[in-house]
Amino acid sequence: MSEQHSGKLTMEKLVSLCQRRGFIFPSSDIYGGLSSCWDYGPIGVELKRNIKEAWWRSVVQERDDMVGLDTSILMHPKVWEASGHLLQFSDPLVECKSCHLRWRADDLQEDKCPKCGGELTEPHQFNLMFKTFMGPVEEEANVVYLRPETAQGIFVNFQNAVNTSRKRLPFGIAQIGKAFRNEITTGNFIFRSREFELMEIEYFVKPGTDDKWFDYWLEERLNWYMKLGIKKENLRLREHSEEELAHYARKCYDIDYNFPMGWSELEGVANRTDFDLKQHMEHTGKGLTYLDEETKEHIVPFIIEPSVGVDRSVLAVLCDAYDEETVRGELRVLFRFNPDIAPFKVAVLPLSRKENLTALAKDVYTDLRPCFMTQYDDTQSIGRRYRRQDELGTPFCVTIDFQSLEDNQATIRERDTMNQIRVHIAALRDTLQAKLAGEDLFVLPEGGVIWKGGE
Ligand code: GAP
Repeated sequence: MSEQHSGKLTMEKLVSLCQRRGFIFPSSDIYGGLSSCWDYGPIGVELKRNIKEAWWRSVVQERDDMVGLDTSILMHPKVWEASGHLLQFSDPLVECKSCHLRWRADDLQEDKCPKCGGELTEPHQFNLMFKTFMGPVEEEANVVYLRPETAQGIFVNFQNAVNTSRKRLPFGIAQIGKAFRNEITTGNFIFRSREFELMEIEYFVKPGTDDKWFDYWLEERLNWYMKLGIKKENLRLREHSEEELAHYARKCYDIDYNFPMGWSELEGVANRTDFDLKQHMEHTGKGLTYLDEETKEHIVPFIIEPSVGVDRSVLAVLCDAYDEETVRGELRVLFRFNPDIAPFKVAVLPLSRKENLTALAKDVYTDLRPCFMTQYDDTQSIGRRYRRQDELGTPFCVTIDFQSLEDNQATIRERDTMNQIRVHIAALRDTLQAKLAGEDLFVLPEGGVIWKGGE
């Protein structure tokens, strides 16, 4: 019925599809866009929320050794002194002496300007933190920073979380939130932007057990991506060299994804040792320690940190789920999202706009909406509407036709196989629920009819 395309996904193709179908738009689009900032549209916002919810479910809801936090973006400026970000969170910047474009020195292959071939200045360290002022007076004493990571909000709340959650070591704190970095070079769509969202875990362990927990989290996180539907062959691990390690890390592995521009970091898993807690203790004089009940000693836990950008996860999911095939001589483009994270689970499509059909279809829509993110669409031909839902990655379409008026049955059409079954309207909810849970219902109930790959 269908044949696989060899055509590869390019970033241009993805950007254009994402704009056309309402996944992601350039920020401030009507003003010509703002470099490296992006807005999630009506479809993209659902995908992003579902990915964040899947992460939260897996690292907080389904575990008894984790709690969550939601801390503020603006923090006391001394936090960034203690954390080392004021001094060390920087990249080497060079400027072209001819065209004055600025580049990240460690991204360049040659000693010349990639744009015009001009001579470059000596590199100097450029701090990536965004500055702003707190209150109505714009002076040095009121400078605050937009957080470049959410982790510090967790560290400064360590004692609050221990006291109120009564968790024993090892345990972790998870947080999802915005972060800001004044990156020298951005690009590759939502891969590297200046405003992005992070999903971070800080997992506190007894010193000496850190290597064991590091390996545990690396495996756990790799498995999570595969559970999310990302193909194993598109994931790999890469250890940081000594020179690459962040100032706070003793060891770090990237989980890389095979993006259209090549293998690049999706998530970092780092052993931050006791660096952060000790720094905050030194700068505040407060004890961020944990009473070990066995030894009765106060210890400073070591921290294992799996940290991933939400936007990079969205990009990896989009790239991985994208597919093209030829169906009866026509190109079919689709996102084969795992149903758990698909923006919409079901679309209700009346075959025509005849009033008796749309009335029944709207009843079905009203019935399904409380259970699933559902779309209603009665525009254009049914074939075009199926194609549109394929491009949104909707796993199931429910079609109401003239026969439905007689027999009270509807057709469920499956995105991946294009197979169709007839189901009684009263059984639609349960059938869809079972299908979304992964049951193969194309083994049919008695008297049912199936069309393989039929539309
Ligand atoms: N707290 C640790 C930390 O921030 P990081 O490796 O600098 O570590 C963690 O960032 C993750 O955040 C990266 O693996 C990546 O997924 C994402 N990330 C980093 N910079 C980003 C940017 N400019 N735009 C989008 N995502 C970014």
